[in-house]
Amino acid sequence: MRVLGIAGSLRAGSFNRSLLRAAQELAPPGMEIEACDISAIPLYNGDVEAQGDPPPVAAFKVAIREADALLIATPEYNYGVPGVLKNAVDWASRPPGKSVLNGKPAGIMGASMGTVGTARAQLQLRQAFVFTQTLAMLQPEALVTKAHEKFDADGRLTDEGTRSFVGKFLVAFAAWVQRLGG
Ligand SMILES: Cc1cc2nc3c(=O)[nH]c(=O)nc-3n(C[C@H](O)[C@H](O)[C@H](O)COP(=O)(O)O)c2cc1C
Repeated sequence: MRVLGIAGSLRAGSFNRSLLRAAQELAPPGMEIEACDISAIPLYNGDVEAQGDPPPVAAFKVAIREADALLIATPEYNYGVPGVLKNAVDWASRPPGKSVLNGKPAGIMGASMGTVGTARAQLQLRQAFVFTQTLAMLQPEALVTKAHEKFDADGRLTDEGTRSFVGKFLVAFAAWVQRLGG
């Protein structure tokens, strides 16, 4: 099972990038998570799109198309999805109705320093996925709260409870992807 990992933060020390790395480490047998870099994706512009997808966008779409599923680790910015991630989703959502996101199984995780662990951003992402017909796993939810207490200075997930939960989340995610034929 080939999973494309997408972190919604460009920060080198990002907790969400670290969470994705932990998922790579804790993935169940048979699941391979390849992290993709969305930093080169330009801001969506319909005029640019009309001339053809810029290379980073084209590469992003190919990576999504070739993956069996997506695993997204989103931060929460002002109660919502960070612009860099929403922008990448917006590009990938084109053309509407038959985009690479259509019918693609997805798992959503998130880490924040607060006490709700990106719950509001995750709900907003799910809302976008209704229109793109992206099949986001419903439960369990992966809300990593107080992230600064759970990762060490090198970005390794050290909290044993969270490591155990991420492992279980990924087993459920594998079952979700298989159920959808992936
Ligand atoms: C513009 C901005 C808005 C933020 N808004 C929220 C928020 O609504 N809820 C929250 O829990 N944390 C919020 N934070 C704090 C982030 O959760 C924190 O910076 C987190 O480390 C970002 O994820 P990252 O480590 O993957 O970059 C915000 C941070 C920024 C920069």
